[in-house]
Amino acid sequence: MADTVRSAAGKRSPGGRTEPDHILDFGPSGRRDRGEGKESFRILMLSDLQIIDLCCTRNPTRDRQIKGAYFREGVPGMEERCFTFVRETVARAAPDLLVFAGDNVYGEFDDLGRMQDLFCREAEGFGIPWAPIFGNHDNESRMGVRWQMSRFAECPHCLFTDGGLTGHGNYALSIRRDGRDVMLLFLLDTNGCRTVGDPWAPEEGITPDNIDYGLVCHEAGIYPDQTAWYRAVAQTAKERNGRTVPSLAFFHIPLTVYDEVFRECYGYEFGVSFDATRPGDYGGIYEHSKHTVDADGSFYRTARECGTAGFFTAHEHRNDACIHRDGAVFAYGVKSGYCTFYRRGAVGGTVIDVFADGSFTVFPLYTERYFI
Ligand SMILES: [Fe+2]
Repeated sequence: MADTVRSAAGKRSPGGRTEPDHILDFGPSGRRDRGEGKESFRILMLSDLQIIDLCCTRNPTRDRQIKGAYFREGVPGMEERCFTFVRETVARAAPDLLVFAGDNVYGEFDDLGRMQDLFCREAEGFGIPWAPIFGNHDNESRMGVRWQMSRFAECPHCLFTDGGLTGHGNYALSIRRDGRDVMLLFLLDTNGCRTVGDPWAPEEGITPDNIDYGLVCHEAGIYPDQTAWYRAVAQTAKERNGRTVPSLAFFHIPLTVYDEVFRECYGYEFGVSFDATRPGDYGGIYEHSKHTVDADGSFYRTARECGTAGFFTAHEHRNDACIHRDGAVFAYGVKSGYCTFYRRGAVGGTVIDVFADGSFTVFPLYTERYFI
């Protein structure tokens, strides 16, 4: 593992974890000047790669659906469809940390585990720390979530930590400088790996005979134990630093509060697309989510109380809006690669520059090429 990363003490005490699971060193020197003389710790968020192994298509209906709806332009391999663009985005961003925001593999189409292996190999190949979370699709694979996590564990640069809470992959990172926490990063599992036959999308999902079926939380959500852990880590950091430490949250399925933000800032009506054009905002909403988490806002309120100023989600591939409201950022990650749904011109990644004073900026990196 890179020498900028080391495991934090206190790891692996599920329920009692109050410290970040890994420490990332901001400096004090060597960080590149990102302009205006300011050094940053740069995070690149890559969303919804959703890579697919068509050899694993489970039945003719899904074969027709996946090829007809998502692969209209032909079925080139994952190299041509995804990784060439991921590599381009990583090279342009030159990040210090990669965050993979879930649906990294399309689990239903990875019953042999080859996509999970490929994903790990590609991510590890960048030679920098990477922090994946699960989306609603990853755990559909017949290989099981424990096997998927075991692949992460074999990658020296992978920071994934199960966390022992609802879901798999609830963990915290701290970007530190001179012993002080500059920024906390929270990575959360929003769960929601649906069972085949669910009315929402009856043809897709995890099958009840999956080896780890009972270990996966099928209902989307951020659960009370996850929120309690979040608060505890933030509180411990506050005590350690003598101040509230700013933080960013990364999760796959958007929070319900996003809709409220869209309404307030852009007069959003469900089903009506818009571009985020206010100063500082960018991107747009072109996909309208009926599937959000945290309907009662309890996680959101806790996160704001804890000093979280940036919320980063994925899941709706055609959305890439980044909107500022009340001192916080509400962002969709730019979709990475061309698997399944995408919005032409809105594929690449999302860059977050964290500065030594705890401030941060967000901007999109769009790939300049199409895959055909
Ligand atoms: Fe998703």
